[in-house]
Amino acid sequence: MFNKINTLGGYFHEYQKSVSEPEKFWAQQADSFYWRQRWTHVTQWDFEKPTINWFCNAKLNITENIFEKNLYTHGEQIAIDWEPNDPNEASRQYTYQELLSVVNQTANALKREGIKKGDTVILYMPMVPELVIAVLACARIGAIHSVVFAGFSAQALADRVRDAEAKIVLTANFGYRAEKTIALKQIVDEALEKSDLVQRVVVYQRTQKEVPLKKDRDILWDEFLADTSTDCPAEILDSEDPLFILYTSGSTGQPKGIVHSTGGYMVYSAYTFANVFQYQDGDVYFCTADVGWITGHSYLVYGPLLNGAHIVMYEGVPSWPDSGRMWDIVGKYQVTHFYTAPTLIRALLTMGNEYLEGKALSSLKVIGTVGEPINEDAWHWVHDHIGQNRCPVVDTWWQTETGGVMIAPIAGVTPTKPSFATLPLPGIQPVIIDNDGQEQRGNSVEGNLCIRYPWPGMARSIWGDHERFKQTYFSQFEHYYFSGDGVRRDEDGYYRILGRVDDVINVSGHRLGTAEIENAINEHPLVNESAVVGYPHPIKGQGIYAFVVCPQTSTGGEAGIKQSIEQGVNKLIGPIARPDLIQLVPNLPKTRSGKIMRRILRQIAAGDATSLGDISTLLDEQIVDIIINEALVDV
Ligand code: PRX
Repeated sequence: MFNKINTLGGYFHEYQKSVSEPEKFWAQQADSFYWRQRWTHVTQWDFEKPTINWFCNAKLNITENIFEKNLYTHGEQIAIDWEPNDPNEASRQYTYQELLSVVNQTANALKREGIKKGDTVILYMPMVPELVIAVLACARIGAIHSVVFAGFSAQALADRVRDAEAKIVLTANFGYRAEKTIALKQIVDEALEKSDLVQRVVVYQRTQKEVPLKKDRDILWDEFLADTSTDCPAEILDSEDPLFILYTSGSTGQPKGIVHSTGGYMVYSAYTFANVFQYQDGDVYFCTADVGWITGHSYLVYGPLLNGAHIVMYEGVPSWPDSGRMWDIVGKYQVTHFYTAPTLIRALLTMGNEYLEGKALSSLKVIGTVGEPINEDAWHWVHDHIGQNRCPVVDTWWQTETGGVMIAPIAGVTPTKPSFATLPLPGIQPVIIDNDGQEQRGNSVEGNLCIRYPWPGMARSIWGDHERFKQTYFSQFEHYYFSGDGVRRDEDGYYRILGRVDDVINVSGHRLGTAEIENAINEHPLVNESAVVGYPHPIKGQGIYAFVVCPQTSTGGEAGIKQSIEQGVNKLIGPIARPDLIQLVPNLPKTRSGKIMRRILRQIAAGDATSLGDISTLLDEQIVDIIINEALVDV
């Protein structure tokens, strides 16, 4: 395999090589994969256009690198241990050989439906093995998968189906979440009401309950797979052919379909997995992320499977049947690596240590976190009580757009510091830039987090809107990729992520655009306008605070209006975007030119209105006092 780092000196050595000779460095890493045809150039790029190419003109299939390349050594080893929502239901297991057979069957079934290289496939599924199988089946035939998190509403799904121009949707009749079932097929039906493009819906039967099937459109999973061969030659793709689209929120407008490539993404997700987590043969890796998010793509599916890892996939929620469930799973499968979000750690921490009693945690070797800053309390709790002072905690900073981890400790190698993502991985050149575009050199500086040089796993475009890709990531600070995050580099050169500097909020590790939520609120017939900001929330990291201008209330009064606003957001986006606090206000603080001064609302929501700064540009300064007096948090 590629260069594995196992000492701090080794890290600095690799890092230096990756900066002084990036092409040589990445060619070396890429050499350990199975390419049908080698590249002509390692990289060709231009951040001005922007164009980004890695392993130019190389040919490959990522699934051959998961399966064929490793079958001889790993064929009989476990690829997936699947743990169902209900601990009393039987778990399921796949070896690499078994997984390949069913991936091939599913790939052949997709082909039979006329799906071919370059077609898009929407997956709206619960966390069952069939979701991973469908992802890999798409990759096998060169179809571009777009997984939509199964907590999104019908409207959000419809928007993504339309944007991705998908002809086929794979779903399930229901999904389980703790004691509830979610009617996924019904949501798909609703989403497709206005779509003529989708000709086929494949329905996995997660429960016994039957659902109505639309004639000539819907087909059950078993029927879909019937009489398919377990052999399916891999489609040979160009390194730059898209592997998948994943929608994520930005600061404006509709969610963006982030496009990832085949060759570069493969090298990057596999390289970072091996190094950050220091996974070794015989280890068992459990990532709690849903495949509907980038963490699920890169570090539940691709990165681990490319390394021949043994993964644990969990269907349910972390606190059901009780708050000890995660630790039961760790004990049951003898998990060595546990990768999760700080919000989950905070939620379990508040439940108390009695849920740890009698749990077998001694198999754990490495704990990883991702998605949001981890506060020191959560860091110490997970380090002391879960990792039992034995396991390194790797706080990994990255994004949907980066494809893989960018700044993080190498487990057991990089000395950690609570709340710090520590140092950049080899190949990653972070730059801190102030708001005037000046690079902040040296240590003890803070500013906007940008990246100077491309890396293989970075996004290549926004589906159908390359101009937006350019505007969002490459225009703010010329010559650099701009992450949208603020960062501090401390006196030791360690990086601490400070959070988003744009109108994106991070709720329980889920990224949401405030504009998206405002659009959903504004759909309410009685709402004139609204402004949404994040505020500090003890469990979720950030909560959603909506200031809503709604001059008349209906019969249900204020409570009724708030409830119907919540329902509207649920319907248009999904429960993850439901505001935690809704304050009805007579007006929003606006400048004379009509711009909402969000800074003021953010400060009020954070409970700190002591120094609001210059508010003289406001059209109506009094509105600030009115909002403060009626604020839903202590100001
Ligand atoms: O603000 C950063 C935060 O999550 C954002 C990316 O969200 P998303 O694309 O959904 O990907 C999440 C999983 C990779 C970032 O811009 N973020 C991610 N990891 C960290 C983080 N903030 C602080 N510390 C982290 N380790």
